[in-house]
Amino acid sequence: MNYKELILQIDKSKMPKHIAIIMDGNGRWAELHNTKRINGHKKGVETVRRIVETSVEIGLEYLTVYAFSTENWKRAKPEVNYLLKLIIDSLVKEIDELIKNNVSVRFLGRKENLSKNYNKKVIETCKRSWNNTGLHLNAAMNYGGRQELTDAFNDIFAEMKSGKISENEINEEIINSHLYTANMPDPDLIIRTSGEERLSNFLIWQSAYSEFWFTQTLWPDFSREEFIRAILDFQKRKRRYGAR
Ligand code: FPP
Repeated sequence: MNYKELILQIDKSKMPKHIAIIMDGNGRWAELHNTKRINGHKKGVETVRRIVETSVEIGLEYLTVYAFSTENWKRAKPEVNYLLKLIIDSLVKEIDELIKNNVSVRFLGRKENLSKNYNKKVIETCKRSWNNTGLHLNAAMNYGGRQELTDAFNDIFAEMKSGKISENEINEEIINSHLYTANMPDPDLIIRTSGEERLSNFLIWQSAYSEFWFTQTLWPDFSREEFIRAILDFQKRKRRYGAR
């Protein structure tokens, strides 16, 4: 089935609201093509573009991509620097096109470790898109799920101390509202490429009832057709949320 035919198979009444993606395999793609790792990342950006375009086309509400984890700082310095620059440069380069397509963009993650200038540029650029009502695109950047929860607990504790919330008031809703994903639906579907089958500290609270979809395909080779196939597969699943 070609792309157009696949899109027609989507059951609009069962659309996932939020898809999150662990984009893995850029390094292995580069190795396979006898080129430097950074060329794998560069190619990976083309896939991000393709998947964002498709998400807009099918009317997806939320797409979150894992761009840079808190663990990624352990990589060789030149690769880290390249990734940081690639991510901000891609945002700046694409923002007009994203705005034209009614996309609003946010970066989810810790600001510390990133320079003041970097954070400023991210906010200034993203802000331009915040009136948009179409796809909500999140880039998880300097993101870690445990760090997100730690930040939430610290914020809640500070608010408790100041009397904004009381001691016995803590519940799931309060915790949700202190996460980077406050006011967003949990991911219905989490996709991971490159054959690895783990969560790697991604949206650990929010993924409690997510469906998982894994593929051997390396991220630079991930096609819009395969993305639609993942959605079609998701639509065949029975989600019970613990009930019978
Ligand atoms: C995983 O491949 C990929 C990453 C750590 C970075 C993903 C980032 C991009 C594609 C950059 C663009 C993002 C945005 C939002 C513009 P890997 O290096 O872990 O691959 P390997 O496991 O094969 O070594």
